[in-house]
Amino acid sequence: MMQVGVITASDKGSRGEREDLSGPTLAKLVQEIGGQVVEYVVLPDEQELLEETMRLWADERSLDLILTTGGTGFSMRDVTPEATLAVADRMVPGIAEVMRMESLKVTPKAMLSRAIAVLRKRTLIINMPGSPKAVRECFAAIAPAIPHGIQILKGEASECAANFKHK
Ligand code: MTE
Repeated sequence: MMQVGVITASDKGSRGEREDLSGPTLAKLVQEIGGQVVEYVVLPDEQELLEETMRLWADERSLDLILTTGGTGFSMRDVTPEATLAVADRMVPGIAEVMRMESLKVTPKAMLSRAIAVLRKRTLIINMPGSPKAVRECFAAIAPAIPHGIQILKGEASECAANFKHK
């Protein structure tokens, strides 16, 4: 089972002024691809806190996947992509490309999300926008490829070529 961490980046959420609906939405969605949320936190839009949590969950908890929601837009407080970039070992541009490509079919505002996806050690970290609707749309776009990517990251699936016969 994939071990998943969910970080909701929201000043209001962290102060208890807004109920976080996106984190629980992600927790349900990951079950559909064989994931289980084992860590969940609502943080203010503070780069250092976000970085610290991602480092801890990647390095100490060795989570397979960290999903963030929120803080990807143009507000001066939106720093989730910057925090993610700061902890990145390697970039995964295709994941954010596909999220935006599919989201643009729903709303032109999709281009306003600066979300990125990266690898830190054996952990995949993916940013998503903040609303539950955006989370559902972005997750649907990338879900079919995530388990395979994580298997490769963990060294459990090395022979992609073997699949070509069947797909
Ligand atoms: N992506 C999808 N799929 N659906 C959406 O409704 N909203 C957009 C965009 N991406 C949206 C989306 C909007 S309105 C904004 S401002 C940006 O994500 C950034 O959102 P964030 O600041 O909550 O991260």
